[in-house]
Amino acid sequence: MSFRLQPTPPARPNRCQLFGPGSNTKLFAKMAVSEADVINLDLEDSVGPNDKDIARKNVIEAINTVDWGKKTLSVRINSLDTPYWYRDVVDLLEQASERLDMIMIPKVGCAADIYAVDALVTAIEAAKGRKKRIALEVIIESAAGIAHVEEIAASSPRLEAMSLGAADFAASMGMQTTGIGGTQENYYMLHEGAKYWSDPWHWAQTAIVAACRTHGILPVDGPFGDFSDDEGCRAQARRSATLGMVGKWAIHPKQIAISNEVFTPSDEAVAEAREILAAMEQAKANGEGATVYKGRLVDIASIKQAEVIVRQSEMING
Ligand code: COA
Ligand code: MG
Repeated sequence: MSFRLQPTPPARPNRCQLFGPGSNTKLFAKMAVSEADVINLDLEDSVGPNDKDIARKNVIEAINTVDWGKKTLSVRINSLDTPYWYRDVVDLLEQASERLDMIMIPKVGCAADIYAVDALVTAIEAAKGRKKRIALEVIIESAAGIAHVEEIAASSPRLEAMSLGAADFAASMGMQTTGIGGTQENYYMLHEGAKYWSDPWHWAQTAIVAACRTHGILPVDGPFGDFSDDEGCRAQARRSATLGMVGKWAIHPKQIAISNEVFTPSDEAVAEAREILAAMEQAKANGEGATVYKGRLVDIASIKQAEVIVRQSEMING
């Protein structure tokens, strides 16, 4: 219990974050006209070491010249254990226009990682007289990241979103898989000879959601690697939405519609939530704290659950 109110996360749609390598300029215009809420131009692991400088130049030019519409525009910089990241931050903040909304820091392991980037960003913003404050988002994708997830969520007022990066996370944890998200063949329970698959990403997702909700940050599910498997991707997205995540990455345009569908509350869900709110209004008028809706208990906690769905729907449509 706490007397403190849970902070509200940024009220902007974040159902789908579409990634594209900064070295692949022909994708930029396609990304800009996509249905993704957030665009992530990548300078990190989809760009080879020899292309780091050119990718940085491409991305800055694209920020300054492409019409990105109303999308949130983010750049994934290189991680703090590389020789590239400081140049990413310096060149972006000195040369990219104020159209840039956000910088994504990968492989964060502790709050000081965000502090370091924040200090650099803050100094360059002041030196250059930038008016729009750059936001930050991070990827939890290591053992240290998940171990320190709460201090990371609390690290900076610039922080807006936190994603689970399944591939690097699995590697750092020593998990025996090369799959990126989704069902893992060897993660099952046996009951009377039949296999029942569990979700090995579940606990990390839940830890991220709890840290994010505590500090008013958007929890986001990362990539689903097998972009030929629409149903697998949809199932993963539905599990994430059920756990409280607000969106998911797309690493291929096929995955955008899946995220938008799953992370937009359905008309039926919104209608039911409104009915629950109406039922509770009636209960309140009758001096009751609980009532029956479609044969099941609804009470004051149900109001908060229903409001999550209605608020999300209004924010996306508004
Ligand atoms: N954004 C926008 N459009 C994209 C795209 C993306 N990320 N990836 C592919 N497309 C386009 C292609 O250019 C192609 O367009 P066309 O029909 O006009 O020719 C169309 O979608 C179909 O693409 P397809 O041929 O199926 O894929 P591909 O072989 O060109 O590319 C990948 C496959 C995985 C290499 C590519 O999707 C990609 O680079 N994804 C992002 C990777 C990334 O950023 N990773 C870092 C985060 S994990
Ligand atoms: Mg990664």
